[in-house]
Amino acid sequence: MKHRSIALLTLSGSLVAVSAAGQNYATSASRPAPSPPPRDASNPPILVNISKLPKTVEVNITAAVAKLSLMPGVTSEVFAYNGQVPGPTLDVREGDHVIVHFRNNLPEPTTIHWHGIHLPFDSDGSPYHPIAPGATHDYEFTVHAGTAGTYWYHPHPDHRTGFAIGKGLYGGIIVRAADDPLPASLPEKFLILSDNRFLQDGSIDFPEAHSQHGIKDESNGREGPVLFVNGEVMPTISIRSGEVQLWRIVNASAGRIFRLSLAGHTLLHVGSDGGLFEKPIEVNEILLTTGERVELLVRGSDPPGGRSAFQNLPYDRYVPQTRPADWEMTRDLLTLQTTNDAPVTPVAIPATLRKIVPLDTTKVTAVRTIVFSQGLINGKAMDMARVDVSTTVGATEIWEIENVVGMDHPFHLHGFQFQVLDRDGVAEKYRAWKDMLNIPKHSSARIIVRYDDFPGKWMFHCHILDHEDHGMMGVLEVK
Ligand code: C2O
Ligand code: CU
Ligand code: CU
Repeated sequence: MKHRSIALLTLSGSLVAVSAAGQNYATSASRPAPSPPPRDASNPPILVNISKLPKTVEVNITAAVAKLSLMPGVTSEVFAYNGQVPGPTLDVREGDHVIVHFRNNLPEPTTIHWHGIHLPFDSDGSPYHPIAPGATHDYEFTVHAGTAGTYWYHPHPDHRTGFAIGKGLYGGIIVRAADDPLPASLPEKFLILSDNRFLQDGSIDFPEAHSQHGIKDESNGREGPVLFVNGEVMPTISIRSGEVQLWRIVNASAGRIFRLSLAGHTLLHVGSDGGLFEKPIEVNEILLTTGERVELLVRGSDPPGGRSAFQNLPYDRYVPQTRPADWEMTRDLLTLQTTNDAPVTPVAIPATLRKIVPLDTTKVTAVRTIVFSQGLINGKAMDMARVDVSTTVGATEIWEIENVVGMDHPFHLHGFQFQVLDRDGVAEKYRAWKDMLNIPKHSSARIIVRYDDFPGKWMFHCHILDHEDHGMMGVLEVK
């Protein structure tokens, strides 16, 4: 502990000087992020459970306008959950009954959508259930067995999701397993990645819809030059040499797809949207599309006092016309600082994490084709009064999702986790539960899903928020 604070103080001292030397936080997408003093990437606070009952988690969340300093030296008007960006983390266990007392103190309608959670339609927080300004609503659901993993919550108002998330409304969810195979002693980091763009006065830059910038955001998906980890720019995480940490990472950006790597080191990828894989996978990098989550083990493999950069590598999701000029730049997200303590022996990680039963392809009752073109799904824009796919509880289906344009579109399904069968005809190498799947330009993928419960109208959409808001969304009705 002591070592860490000393290192940070020294560091901030030297970097304060840098940012005092006339940085400005203008909006140009080609401008690199400014360098504020590094802060420890502390986990967002946990929502306080006010229930005295066993297996019950009862929390209060208020969404309201707030003034926060996201960029040093200026304050921004933001939308915040409980006054914070990101909002506090909902930390629950499988089997818990969750009650969220929500109050909307925003000047506009909103919802809370529990991204990735398997829950009743009424609690999905989709555009079907807006909460008016000044109104309250209780969200209630029971956390299912086998769903332990990393999720997140965010607003989902009709046409305004990109705006509301960009203003600061997003928070993490941890679902813990009754029988977690990972050692309980692993220190955990919850990291929510996002990006944003600011005007000189600190206000968050949302251009006029029909301006040149607005049109570019709409087609590209709004990106900003400032990369945030838990609302901090370039924070530090301390690790002891030999220590193993569990990092849960969420991509809360509107359009940015992260390609994550820890320079000079491999990572142990252990889980995705719906929790752990069957086995850990050693990787050099991880592609994290919008809305997607990753669970990975980071090993302190530097010697005492060493440091490594956790980075975002270039990834070309764009069409040439709107590709940002700096897209090929590798950007640092945070510093992994190894303490001066003597190395410890790394804790043993089990070779098998859990069993994921494959969904049965012989039970498939329908095969759907979902075509992504620019801004449209199967040639249509979203209409809440229309049902695009109609099915029944208990059905198992294959969806073939095809992206026919020259830009990536990340697919998301509400309410149900799916398994990926193949991508461009190549069988998926390992099983995972997913609710996000990036569909790269001019490619296709097949997923299998079973609607095992919960009738209702469930959205499926592109998770580039500008595309979703402009109608790249459809309705799946489960009866
Ligand atoms: Cu992250 Cu429709 O949701
Ligand atoms: Cu969702
Ligand atoms: Cu899209």
